[in-house]
Amino acid sequence: MVKDREISLYGGKMEKNRIGVLTGGGDCAGLNSAIKWVVKTALDDRLQRTRKIRYEMVGIRDGWKGLVCPEGDEDFPYPRICILTEEMVRTWDRYGGTNLGTSRTNPYDPKNDRSKIVLKNIEQLRLDYLVAIGGEDTLGVANKLYLEGVNVVGIPKTIDKDLSGTDYTLGFETAVNVITEEIDRLRTTAGSHRRIFVVETMGRHAGWLALEGGESSGAYIILIPEYNFEIERINELLMEGRRKGARYEIIVVAEGAKPVGSSEIIKEEGIDGFGHKMLGGVGEFLAKEIFQSTKIETRSITLSHLQRGGAPCAYDRRMGRYFGIAAVNLIVKEDFGKMVSYRNGRITSIPLQEAISRLNLVDIRTQYDTERYNGRRTILSS
Ligand code: F6P
Repeated sequence: MVKDREISLYGGKMEKNRIGVLTGGGDCAGLNSAIKWVVKTALDDRLQRTRKIRYEMVGIRDGWKGLVCPEGDEDFPYPRICILTEEMVRTWDRYGGTNLGTSRTNPYDPKNDRSKIVLKNIEQLRLDYLVAIGGEDTLGVANKLYLEGVNVVGIPKTIDKDLSGTDYTLGFETAVNVITEEIDRLRTTAGSHRRIFVVETMGRHAGWLALEGGESSGAYIILIPEYNFEIERINELLMEGRRKGARYEIIVVAEGAKPVGSSEIIKEEGIDGFGHKMLGGVGEFLAKEIFQSTKIETRSITLSHLQRGGAPCAYDRRMGRYFGIAAVNLIVKEDFGKMVSYRNGRITSIPLQEAISRLNLVDIRTQYDTERYNGRRTILSS
């Protein structure tokens, strides 16, 4: 399905190889930076001359949906691809979201397997290579396509930071900044009224956002999916705080956190194309429980998609840049089935299979204080 690279040396002309790029799953800050740097690296004149390969860049709209919907589908009334040029993407790194659009479409959904359509479209659109930017779901699809012979590479993104084999996933740091800024705002109003505020963050299975957002903002209590909490213990900690003279408390809770003996709290019945439940409501649940026992006025706020929105912070712009460049480096080396990754201070790559085989979760033993429901207080062991 994917043709061999041919290089015509006559008159310096070289055949153009097509790279398709798509973003899938929940959007986040940093995606546009990654797209920009895939395009700029692939189309860089000087690099094309030294590599003796010329590329053409094709943006695929709305993630895998752009490769499963038949042309002219009423669900897809606009062109599913666009040719990307360096000039076009010049300023993209400053903007949030994804200018290519995204979706949670799963071509391998067991109830509606459309993977053959994807393979056919890849061939029809003459995509020699594919860069998939996404989390466990999008990269899971990328890995299956790789096993079917597609020349695919991946870039990690998810504000949940739950992909394995990488210390960073695009969007995380911007989301932590949003949590920190919003909690700074809540503090003044919470303090004025002597209230408790429960702040619900995203984080389905992994508590990184709640933990690092809570640590950055100095939250009094942090609750994560990796450790089931006891409401009595939360109340105890709150009363202890008040006895010591605190005027207000901030509790950060990840949407996937749950009390001992219960399952996660869901916003709506049903599952998405990848089999995920729609979580939400643990913040409100907790606020009610706390008020009932302590009689202290308690409010809750769900940060929800605010965490995914807005302009990328400096770190996400830079990481998008490095990941985008590295993804094209993998294509040049014909090192497919890999995801670029950031490990121990270095940009490197790992097999897609490894990135999606298990989730990267908070290590309770070394990163969480199970007594105080907060971040660790010992970092260098004695
Ligand atoms: O990308 C993962 C995530 O951030 C989860 O933490 C959350 O449950 C989900 O996205 C919600 O996404 P959406 O409402 O866009 O489907």
